[in-house]
Amino acid sequence: MNQVNQRQYKVGVLGATGTVGQRFISLLAEHPFFVIHALGASSRSAGKPYSKAVNWKQTRAIPAVVREMVVQECVPEHFKDCVVVFSGLDADVAGDIEHAFRVADLAVFSNAKNYRRDPHVPLIVPLVNTSHFSIIPQQQRLHAPPLRKGFIVTNANCSTTAVVVPLGALERAFGPIESCMITTMQAISGAGYPGVPSLDIVDNVVPYIPGEEEKIEWETLKILGGLAHADDDDSGSGLLAFDMHAAQPLRISASCTRVPVVEGHTECVSVRFARRPPPSPQQVREALQAYTSEAYSIGCPSAPRHTVFVHEEPDRPQPRLDRDYQAGAGVSVGRVRQCRVLDIKFVVLANNVAIGAATSSIINAEYAVLKGIVSATAA
Ligand SMILES: NC(=O)c1ccc[n+]([C@@H]2O[C@H](COP(=O)([O-])OP(=O)(O)OC[C@H]3O[C@@H](n4cnc5c(N)ncnc54)[C@H](OP(=O)(O)O)[C@@H]3O)[C@@H](O)[C@H]2O)c1
Repeated sequence: MNQVNQRQYKVGVLGATGTVGQRFISLLAEHPFFVIHALGASSRSAGKPYSKAVNWKQTRAIPAVVREMVVQECVPEHFKDCVVVFSGLDADVAGDIEHAFRVADLAVFSNAKNYRRDPHVPLIVPLVNTSHFSIIPQQQRLHAPPLRKGFIVTNANCSTTAVVVPLGALERAFGPIESCMITTMQAISGAGYPGVPSLDIVDNVVPYIPGEEEKIEWETLKILGGLAHADDDDSGSGLLAFDMHAAQPLRISASCTRVPVVEGHTECVSVRFARRPPPSPQQVREALQAYTSEAYSIGCPSAPRHTVFVHEEPDRPQPRLDRDYQAGAGVSVGRVRQCRVLDIKFVVLANNVAIGAATSSIINAEYAVLKGIVSATAA
C-alpha cells in the first residue's frame, strides 16, 4: 500500500469542463497518487487553456495545475500516457468516445449511462459492490481483439447511488430486501449545466425526470445482485454473469422529482425485508452506522470513514447542511422508523456530484490501483 501511495499515476479527464468534470478536477488536484495529465472536452473547448474553456462553477478557485493546461479533443492519442481516464462526458457522445479509449487499451472510469447495461461491464458503487471488479478479465478477454489493459468501469446514476448504499448495508446485515418504494427530491445540478431553466424550477417541483425511474429500478438490481458463473444454468459457457438479484427477486418502485436545490439528492425510502420478523428501527440504525465499505478497509484514500452517517435529529438530513459531510463522499440517513405498509422507512441524502458521480469514479480507480487491476504503466 505504501508503495502505491509513493507512486504518481497520470490520469486524464474527459468532459473536464462539465459539472462532473469540474468536480473531478477539484478532487484530483489534491489527490495523493493521481496526477492530472490530460483534459478533454468538445471541439468548442479543444485548443484553449482550461481556464478559458471552462465556465467554472465550483466554490474554490480553478486549481493552478490545470489553469494553463490545454484542453484536447477526446481522442485516445492525447491520453496515451494516462494510466486511468475518467469520463464525465455527455451521454450523447460518451458511447463512441469511451469505446475508442477502451480499444486503445486505456482504463476508463465512466459516469455516463451508455455501458451500464453491458453484460461484461461492471456497474460499481464503490461503497457497495467492489466485488464486481472480478468481471474485468472477462471483459478484456472477450473483446475483439482481446485487451491487455483497457476496460470500462461505470458508476451508477446519482439517484441510484444514494439509495443502494443503505440498501446494500441492510442486505449485508439482515439478508435480502424483497421490495422497496423510493421517492426522490433531486437537485438541479444533477441535470448538468445550465440544467433546468430557472423559470421551471424556482418556486416549483417538477414531477418528472426522463429515464430516471427506470435507471433506479434497473441499476439497483445489477448493483445489489450477484455475479456468478453462468454454468450454474447448464449453458456450459463458464462466463460470469450478473444475476440481477435473482436469488431473491427484488421489486422496486421509484418516483423521481426535481426540486429547487442546487446540490444533494434527498430520497424517501421504504423497504420490506424477506426475513420475518423484520429488524426493528433501532437494529436498522445500528446496522447502517456500523457498515464499512471494502474500499475504505483496503485504504482507498477517497473512501469515507463513515459510509453511512445516521442522524438522530428528526429534521435531518438536509441538503444544505449535510451534502458536504466527509467532502460529500458518504451518505446521510435519518428518520429511520417503522413503515405501516412495508417494514422500515427512512430518508437518505447523497451529494449527486460527489459520491453520486466524480467521487465514486475516483474511489473505483483507487480500488483498481490498490488491487493491481490497472497497470502501473500506461497503454
Ligand atoms: N450532474 C450529475 O449530478 C451527474 C451525476 C451522475 C452522472 N452524471 C453523468 O455524467 C455525465 C456528465 O454530466 P454533467 O452533468 O457533468 O454534464 P455537463 O455539465 O453537460 O458536461 C458535459 C461535458 O461533456 C462535454 N462534451 C459535450 N459534447 C461533447 C463532444 N461532442 N465531444 C467531447 N466532449 C463533449 C462537454 O464539453 P464542452 O464544455 O466543451 O461542451 C462537457 O465537458 C453525463 O453522462 C451525466 O449523465 C451526472
